[in-house]
Amino acid sequence: MHVFGTASSGETATLHKLESPSGIRAEITNYGGTITRLFVPDRAGNLADVVLGFDTLAAYEAGSPYFGCIIGRVGNRIAHGRFSLDGRDYTLATNNAPGGIPCHLHGGVKSFDKLVWHAEETTRDGAPALRLTRTSPDGEEGYPGTLDVEVVYSLSNDGALRIDYAATADRTTIVNLTNHSYFNLEGEQSGPILDHVLAIHGSRTTPVNAGLIPTGAITSVADTPLDFRTARRIGDRIDADDDQLRFAGGYDHNWVLDHAPGTLGLAAEVVAPLSGRTMQVWTTEPGVQFYSGNFLDGSLTGKTGGRYVRRSGFCLETQHFPDSPNRPTFPSIVLRPGETYRTTTIHRFGVA
Ligand code: BGC
Repeated sequence: MHVFGTASSGETATLHKLESPSGIRAEITNYGGTITRLFVPDRAGNLADVVLGFDTLAAYEAGSPYFGCIIGRVGNRIAHGRFSLDGRDYTLATNNAPGGIPCHLHGGVKSFDKLVWHAEETTRDGAPALRLTRTSPDGEEGYPGTLDVEVVYSLSNDGALRIDYAATADRTTIVNLTNHSYFNLEGEQSGPILDHVLAIHGSRTTPVNAGLIPTGAITSVADTPLDFRTARRIGDRIDADDDQLRFAGGYDHNWVLDHAPGTLGLAAEVVAPLSGRTMQVWTTEPGVQFYSGNFLDGSLTGKTGGRYVRRSGFCLETQHFPDSPNRPTFPSIVLRPGETYRTTTIHRFGVA
C-alpha cells in the first residue's frame, strides 16, 4: 500500500497493488475505487497497461471522465433527475445534458467515484483482493436511505479481474453499481480503439432519444449498426448514417444481454489485433453499456504524458438499464430493507 495523495476533503487516498501469477497486475486507489493501472501480457508475453487514467490524485479530482472508477449509487442516466418510489417523488441533480436535454448521470455531483472509500487488502478464494466499503448516508445526492456498500476487486491465478458488488439499505431505495474502466487492449496510449474486434452477446438494445434516455422500446439489433452478435471491428459502422449513432456520436448504448439475468453469462468479447490481447466480460447483470469513448477529445493528458484522443478507450459497463426507475417494464433496481443487492462482473484476459 502506498499513499496516492491527499484528497480535497483532507482524507488520505491510498494505492494498492494486486498481482496474479498469470502476470496480470492491477493498481487500485480507494479514491472512487478507481483502477489506475492494469498490466496485461500480449501474445509475446509483453506487459502493457490497458486502461486509461491519470498518475496523480489531483488529476482525477480536477476532472476525470469516470476513468476506472466505481459508479454509484445509480449508474447511467435518469431522465430529468426525477423518479418516484413507493408514492414519493425524488429529485436528483441534473449533471449532464446530451442534446441539451438535462439528466442525472452516474450518481450525481459528489458521486461514489469522487469519494474516499475504506480499503482493506485481503484475499478472495485464495486470490489477492482489495475490499472497499462505504456507508452512503441517507439523502446523499438526493437518494433515499442509508446504503452500506461493499466492492471487492480480486485477481485470479488464471488472469481474471473479478468485481463483486454488494449493498444493503435501511429504507427502500434504488441502486445500480458498475465500474467505468476505459480499455485499450493495445496499450493505453495506442490511439483509437476502432480496430478492436468486438462481440456483444445481446440481441436487443434499449434505443434512446437525443438525450440518450431510453424511449422504453426494446428492439432487435438485426439490420442495425448495433449488431455485434457476430464479432466485428468497432470502427466498421461507427459513423453510419443512423440516428442512434448520431445522438451519441458513436456507440453509447445499452445492450440487453441474452443470458438469464442473475446468472453469470458471457456479455462481450474483445480482441486487439496487433497485440493479440483478448478480454471477455462475464456478468450477472441484465445489460451492458458499450461506450466507444466518443467524448474524449484530446484535452486530457494521461498517466504517461500522452493525450487521450477521441475514441482511444472503450467501456463495457455492466449494469441495469438506463432510466430504470422510470421504466416499470425494465428489470427493477429497487432495493428494500432486508434484501442484499449482489452482482458480479469478471474481466478475463487472454491472447489470440
Ligand atoms: C456514458 C457516456 C458518458 C460517459 C462519461 C458513459 O458511461 O454512457 O454517455 O459521456 O460515461 O464519461
